[in-house]
Amino acid sequence: MPILTIDGKTIEVEKGTTILQAAQRLGIDIPHYCYHPGLRIAGSCRMCLVEIQGVPKLQIACYTEATDGMVVFTQSEKVQQARRAVLEFLLVDHPLDCPVCDQAGECYLQIYYMQHGLHPSRVREDKLKRAKVRVLGEHIVLDQERCILCSRCVRFTEEVTRTFELGIFNRGDRSVVDVYPGEQLRNRYQGNLADICPVGALTDRQFRFRTRVWYLDQAKSICPGCSRGCNIVVDFNVRRGYKAGGRRIPRIRPRPNPWVNQYWMCDDGRYGFGWVEGLDRILSPKLLENGHPREIPWAEAIRLAGAWIGEAAREKKLGVLLSPRMSNEEIYAASYVLRSLGVGNVGYWAEPATPGDEDDLLIKADKNPNTYGARLITGVPQEDHLARMVEALSSGAVDTVLIFLHNLEQARAGRAALETLRRAKRFVFVGTNWNRTAAAASLVLPVTAFTEQEGTFTNFQGRVQRFWQAVEPMGQARSALSVLNELAASWGIPPLPDNAAEAFARLASENRAFAGLSYETLGDQGQTVRASEEPGVVGP
Ligand code: SF4
Ligand code: SF4
Ligand code: FES
Repeated sequence: MPILTIDGKTIEVEKGTTILQAAQRLGIDIPHYCYHPGLRIAGSCRMCLVEIQGVPKLQIACYTEATDGMVVFTQSEKVQQARRAVLEFLLVDHPLDCPVCDQAGECYLQIYYMQHGLHPSRVREDKLKRAKVRVLGEHIVLDQERCILCSRCVRFTEEVTRTFELGIFNRGDRSVVDVYPGEQLRNRYQGNLADICPVGALTDRQFRFRTRVWYLDQAKSICPGCSRGCNIVVDFNVRRGYKAGGRRIPRIRPRPNPWVNQYWMCDDGRYGFGWVEGLDRILSPKLLENGHPREIPWAEAIRLAGAWIGEAAREKKLGVLLSPRMSNEEIYAASYVLRSLGVGNVGYWAEPATPGDEDDLLIKADKNPNTYGARLITGVPQEDHLARMVEALSSGAVDTVLIFLHNLEQARAGRAALETLRRAKRFVFVGTNWNRTAAAASLVLPVTAFTEQEGTFTNFQGRVQRFWQAVEPMGQARSALSVLNELAASWGIPPLPDNAAEAFARLASENRAFAGLSYETLGDQGQTVRASEEPGVVGP
């Protein structure tokens, strides 16, 4: 394997590694525009030029393969001069409209100019005018004057989505990026274009002008939009609530994970998280009488839920429906608490997969983030759990139901079941948002969204992945874990730890599939469950 030296530091790399990749492993940042690790190498922007001992001309680090004995300099005077020259060329026709550009703060023209440019402008001529605010598709708008022609966006549509909507047209200084005539962006991953454009040429129509990026903090998370579980970053703003229309979370973005989503996420996930701060969030416990909700204190809500569920469990008349939208820890806690109470059949139901709504890139037909985890933890197949509950309600074998996080209205089987559920003597709904299932309940307990708590989901590959808390719970919402613990306490059952990490540790100690996993070993990229293990049943 080649051993090379970069800025005096020595590293051994696999054959085929480029100088830029070797430098990154050493923590040396070589500026670059056209290089993106998820795309083929274009070698066109020349920003990554480095000096190699014994080679007369500077070489591009993104394309030049590291060879044995190579000695590379990334900070020499020749290199610095080349960077200044590249930046000067790129800025010749740039409009310099940073104060009104949505990319300001995360623009690599700004960042590299401050790091490597800092030259006064020598341009006295008029700048070329090009199209501004050109809508390319549902989510993306183009400013051609800001484009530096790195071709990342073109390669993305050629290599990742394979939809070929974009190209570079004309020649020389008249070159522009655009969609092909009569075309629009029509792929389901177009939000990624705003992420990979290194400047303010492609921006996100939903996010732009909602907040300045320097007001944002970040939390690592997992998209709950389907069973892929793309790794994401939640950008949140709690310091200036009046920005972004008062929303705390104006944007989510993909976080690289080579085993799950590489560098990307789909638009359904990216733009489908509005419910976490929707106007329909349930903000306090509610008792419903004749369909009219009345706010009650948490203590009364726990007392009522504890009494109803406890009584029905004693009489063997309780039906429980967990959800694959719950985290592993919540499903484990619900299984543990309810089985300790003597409830035999604690199962889950997943809205049926959307036939055809998947592709061979990321999108999965199962729109739940934790179906695999629910199956492993409950040990109960989900297929007919809802049907059995409805049957038991109809026959009178069950008269009280406890339902977590469902919106039964969304599936045909669920809509039919909802009619029967309305006839339950007592119906406790635990969830985040109002929907027709919540409205059919007699008691509603508000719980936190995935952005307001930590936990794990197990994706369709059996990969257990952590998500972290970004913002405080909305209203009086509490984590499902703490609600279950309070109910456990009301029944005299030893509670689980309120802390998600410790609840996960208990799960891992009791369920063979999760054995050996912990929050530490999961890290921020997750780990796979022991696939050879059959679903293990938890509980006392
Ligand atoms: S629009 Fe952005 S990503 Fe596309 S070529 Fe221009 S600078 Fe590069
Ligand atoms: S593919 Fe699934 S998990 Fe990934 S971003 Fe889309 S909805 Fe979310
Ligand atoms: S990053 Fe190497 S030439 Fe563009």
